[in-house]
Amino acid sequence: MTAKKRILLLNGPNLNMLGVREPDIYGFTTLEEIEKTVQATARRLDLQLTFKQTNLEGELVSWIQDARFQTDIIVINAGAFSHTSIAILDALQLLEIPIIELHLSNIFAREEFRHNSYISRCANGVICGFGAAGYNLALEAAAQIFSKQD
Ligand code: DQA
Repeated sequence: MTAKKRILLLNGPNLNMLGVREPDIYGFTTLEEIEKTVQATARRLDLQLTFKQTNLEGELVSWIQDARFQTDIIVINAGAFSHTSIAILDALQLLEIPIIELHLSNIFAREEFRHNSYISRCANGVICGFGAAGYNLALEAAAQIFSKQD
């Protein structure tokens, strides 16, 4: 039996406020509810999912560094740090595993300062604009990447 593929799904600042935060943009689903749904998707796809959130840039950097030997793919919604953090880009560039960038909203249809994401420079792909459903799509994308690896 082969070991389950591991996915690390990281969430950045203010995503712990989903449900009450600008629901017209981000919807009413809380991060806890999203986690429940994606854990079920992970079970269906036979993947092992670790799901985390932090408001701290340095903590995200440390988690990304730790991921080097602990996961097979990383999915990251870095929130506003996507548009500002070279430190997170540098950490991601240390990784030799696929990277999926994720956003609930369509960042390209919003303010101009959201159009640039440093993370996109090193991401294998970007999922944005599908709201909470994007989290499940990211897992489907991960499963697709794994199926091509074996
Ligand atoms: C976000 C988009 C970012 O521009 C914003 O700062 C967020 C959430 C999204 O999921 O749509 O915090 O990453």
